[in-house]
Amino acid sequence: MGFSFILPTDRHRRTTSTGKTIQLTTLLETMKVLVATEKPFAKVAVDGIREVIEGAGYELALLEKYTDKQQLLDAVADANALIIRSDIVDAAVLDAAKQLKIVVRAGAGYDNIDLEAATAHNVVAMNTPGQNSNAVAELALGLMVYAVRNLYNGTSGTELKGKKLGIHAFGNVGRNVARIAQGFGMDVYAYDAYCPDEAMKAANVTPVHSAEELYKTCDIVSLHIPATDETKNSINRALVGLMPKGGILVNTARKEVINEDELIALMQERSDLKYMTDIMPASDSKFKTLFEGRYFATPKKMGAQTAEANINAGIAAAKQIVDFFQNGVTKFQVNK
Ligand code: 3PG
Repeated sequence: MGFSFILPTDRHRRTTSTGKTIQLTTLLETMKVLVATEKPFAKVAVDGIREVIEGAGYELALLEKYTDKQQLLDAVADANALIIRSDIVDAAVLDAAKQLKIVVRAGAGYDNIDLEAATAHNVVAMNTPGQNSNAVAELALGLMVYAVRNLYNGTSGTELKGKKLGIHAFGNVGRNVARIAQGFGMDVYAYDAYCPDEAMKAANVTPVHSAEELYKTCDIVSLHIPATDETKNSINRALVGLMPKGGILVNTARKEVINEDELIALMQERSDLKYMTDIMPASDSKFKTLFEGRYFATPKKMGAQTAEANINAGIAAAKQIVDFFQNGVTKFQVNK
């Protein structure tokens, strides 16, 4: 795709007598980078982002904990770049953001950005893959421990050691889950149609070749699939119903991948199954009422909510923006 705007730095590059290209940063018009996070980064991460952005001579604006979309529409009006988390960037936001050239999702999943609209508005969309994956993986293991210890209700539980763990999608988070689970002494399997067996075997993970085989084999399944047209509603009664007695489904991915009605029907039929999720289902109150003791949802998606993940993803996003404006680098562009 072609972008017709002129990078401000192009107009301010000079070649010295020794042939070196220098940047006349003092001549640059100030670029405004907006960090818009309904769920804010840790302060230390915002400090780091500020250092990168202001260090490049740009201005940083912050919109945190906003409660109304209009606040975002107002804040983006004069922003040249935008850093977000799960914040929705749809056509309305892009229409309001008349100066916007780049939006970076500080994180992995970018289903919250309307990519077609971004392309139509000549806005580059990027993510920061891998930067928050350890945090999400640690939380997934935390949910597993919570489940096998009966939600810490005082009764005797079981252990993760020796249990079969199925990783559904072996990307950055899935790989970290495998590494940590092996520390617990779990027997790790993975299914990922887009990942070669060799990569799994190299991580001491047993590859399986269908989702059905994964669910049939494993005591616990941890979801790490993105929300796409292909995956939405794909975790359904037929699939989860294959799990052995006492099966536990852990979701730190997206709520949209779950067919909630079918999971509810299945859990009503099978009182041995548990569902632990970091993304509150649309039917949370139904799950809570029907499945006390075998259902848990965090009040807000917490997987990537650590200082370390915020620093890694936030600073990566800031650096990608500077590199884009200064050098035209589009390595992590997702709308092409
Ligand atoms: C991601 O896609 O990176 C994770 O789901 C984390 O999302 P968050 O930044 O909204 O916590």
